[in-house]
Amino acid sequence: MIKRSILLLAALLTISSQLFCATAVPDNKSGSFEFGNKAFLLNGKPFVVKAAEVHYPRIPRPYWEQRIKMCKALGMNTLCVIVFWNIHEQRMDEFDFTGNNDLRAFIKLAQKNGMKVILRPGPYICAEWEMGGLPWWLLKKKDIRLREQDPFFIERLTKFEQKVAEQVGDLTIDKGGPIIMVQVENEYGSYGEDKAYVSQVRDIIRESGFDKVKLFQCDWSSNFTRNGLDDLLWTMNFGTGANIDNEFRALRQLRPDGPLMCSEFWSGWFDKWGGRHETRGSHAMVEGIRQMLERDISFSLYMTHGGTSWGHWAGANSPGFAPDVTSYDYDAPINEAGQATPKYHELRDVMAKYNQGRRLPPLPKAYPTISIPKVKFSEVAPLYSNLPEPSQKSGPLKTFEDMDMGWGCLLYRTTIPQAIDGESILKVTEAHDYAQVFVNGRYIGKIDRIRRESTVHMPTLHVGDVLDIYVEALGRINFGRAIKDFKGITEKVELRYTLSDNSLVDIELRDWQIFCLPDDYRAQAQMKYEPVSEKNQGVRGNYRATFRLNKVGDTFINMEKFGKGQVYVNGHAIGRFWQIGPQQTLYMPGCWLKKGENEIIVTDVTGPREPVIEGLRQPVIDRLKLEGPQTHRLQGQTLDLSGEQPIHAGTLKSGNGWQEVRFDKPVSGRYLCIEALNSHWNREYCCISELYLLDANGKRLSREPWSVAYADDEDVTTGNKNADKVFDLQESTFWSTNRGVPFPHHIIIDMNQDQTVTGFQILPRMEEGAPESIKDYKVYVKSEPFRY
Ligand code: GLA
Ligand code: CA
Repeated sequence: MIKRSILLLAALLTISSQLFCATAVPDNKSGSFEFGNKAFLLNGKPFVVKAAEVHYPRIPRPYWEQRIKMCKALGMNTLCVIVFWNIHEQRMDEFDFTGNNDLRAFIKLAQKNGMKVILRPGPYICAEWEMGGLPWWLLKKKDIRLREQDPFFIERLTKFEQKVAEQVGDLTIDKGGPIIMVQVENEYGSYGEDKAYVSQVRDIIRESGFDKVKLFQCDWSSNFTRNGLDDLLWTMNFGTGANIDNEFRALRQLRPDGPLMCSEFWSGWFDKWGGRHETRGSHAMVEGIRQMLERDISFSLYMTHGGTSWGHWAGANSPGFAPDVTSYDYDAPINEAGQATPKYHELRDVMAKYNQGRRLPPLPKAYPTISIPKVKFSEVAPLYSNLPEPSQKSGPLKTFEDMDMGWGCLLYRTTIPQAIDGESILKVTEAHDYAQVFVNGRYIGKIDRIRRESTVHMPTLHVGDVLDIYVEALGRINFGRAIKDFKGITEKVELRYTLSDNSLVDIELRDWQIFCLPDDYRAQAQMKYEPVSEKNQGVRGNYRATFRLNKVGDTFINMEKFGKGQVYVNGHAIGRFWQIGPQQTLYMPGCWLKKGENEIIVTDVTGPREPVIEGLRQPVIDRLKLEGPQTHRLQGQTLDLSGEQPIHAGTLKSGNGWQEVRFDKPVSGRYLCIEALNSHWNREYCCISELYLLDANGKRLSREPWSVAYADDEDVTTGNKNADKVFDLQESTFWSTNRGVPFPHHIIIDMNQDQTVTGFQILPRMEEGAPESIKDYKVYVKSEPFRY
């Protein structure tokens, strides 16, 4: 009886608190946040926004408050909060703002801790998050134009923004809440030019309920005018090391009296599978913040704490396909596990000096860490004995989206229609993202989108042989025009073989069975498990184990013995792993572990070397295990330009900013080589941040098909300064040669096909004075590869 009434009381309390959340006016008094003369005004007084960017879905809810307190102890007065559309609406019209998705609770927690909030409700957010925050099911409408005035896109985003406003629209400062500003779209300048669309997003956000609060737009100093709306505040995004005055120069000219803010000051950078771990020095970061504080410039430190892209939520970068790792540590001041790094303390010392004489609050306690001794997996559910009923019994190829699948794997099966003696080539157009090919259950080869692979060499084939293509989806692209990223096999599969008269024949394989293997815990747990034995050693499939803990704490699960896939612990999707690295351990928050028995399931799409894990006290996120060098110059290669004629030679100006060069006449070719003869800094190395080539009309050529054919030297020891950083669309990242390697330096771009080129645009580094910017140079263009 007593128990019952307690339950009843609890139920009543929940109902009333829900009512309270939905209708009541927050207890704080209403205030104001305005744009004054060269300053923000909070309740009429000048206010420097010191914002920490943290992402609620990337932090387990029980840890939210500790992370917020860490930001506060760092001297921050505001939280920058992105809203992740696709985590709230995983299926169309099914909205979820509960648990770890409880945006309102997060913002209330910020308020409780005395923090203001900047809300960034997208709809597009980038953030190295699956599809930049857009829901995958938008792609069920195949011809949808994302981030444009496509009626369906607009209808869906309107609905979403209304839901956001229902949740937190009453938490703006004028209504007594902590939200001081709301962002419209995100960095639209690096996507396109479309003021009509951006204006419509602005209106939707206003009309959905953010009617009085200030709105703003963020972009880069090089492109913000393209979409800048007259009635919104403009803020700039740039990274550690950038020349601060330069970043605001153009804005100051256009808006001499507005407040200045760096809305994303990048503390570090994100990692991709198969790439080196990124770091950014603490000195440059702290110095950038100091300079902004000195000038009363507002900022948001992206990321102050990065956290984790759990499960399948990590996105992928483009051009090309560069899926992000699970850890979003970002080399941020607060590491993935919520601990203060040396960077944190250095920054805190500076922030303390700009705190109007007040002491900064103390750091909250960090959560304990534990190690977990080796856990051997005793059970396995092999892929081949666990295929579900086919979702399509026969028919054309279909994508994940056609099959109503967001994430996971599809297995496509067909039978070989005719015998092919000797070798043939299987050509898949295109496999998104990691495909493995089997004939009668035997593994033949893989097609890895990261490496732009599209073919597999096949053995002799007989009529009726069973061909399987097992395709795992990685994160959908979150940056640039390529965000419309369908998963699975997107077009066709062909077999190419040679006839006795040496002619080539292509046959298209048409009739497919499709098996769906969704990425969700329940499906994984329900498979038929059997004991691990000699017989099933190393097979692809699910591995299950339990382990006992007598105390819980944060730990890092070492996945080095496994191949590639996804981990679930006690039903929580912990994230993707891939033995190529650089990330080898997965952050496992103690709040999702239990005293007593815990369960771990690993889906391994390539199979483990040994099914065993352990919990480490320290993360390993910088161990790359790739065969071959990470640079673009093969061993023994040296570019030979003797006998080649430059099509152009010139001298670049010194200093920051874009420069454009036009050739005397158009040239045509596939390979373009820039030969740098010296730099403005009279030192031995050279750097380029971004490079575009101009077409016959002087417009930028698409860099989507580009790759680096050669770079004489690349600095991958003091950071990740590979040559492909010249076309990664990021102005803050750059190619650098190593110090002390003498000029000339060479970079050769392979455009993948002949193009007409009339000139180029080049951006040196963003740091003051553009360090190591190229001075004298020559350009060579050829249709055939250069000689090495
Ligand atoms: C941009 C985006 C962010 C994030 C950073 C890179 O600034 O706005 O969401 O993707 O780049 O980390
Ligand atoms: Ca770059």
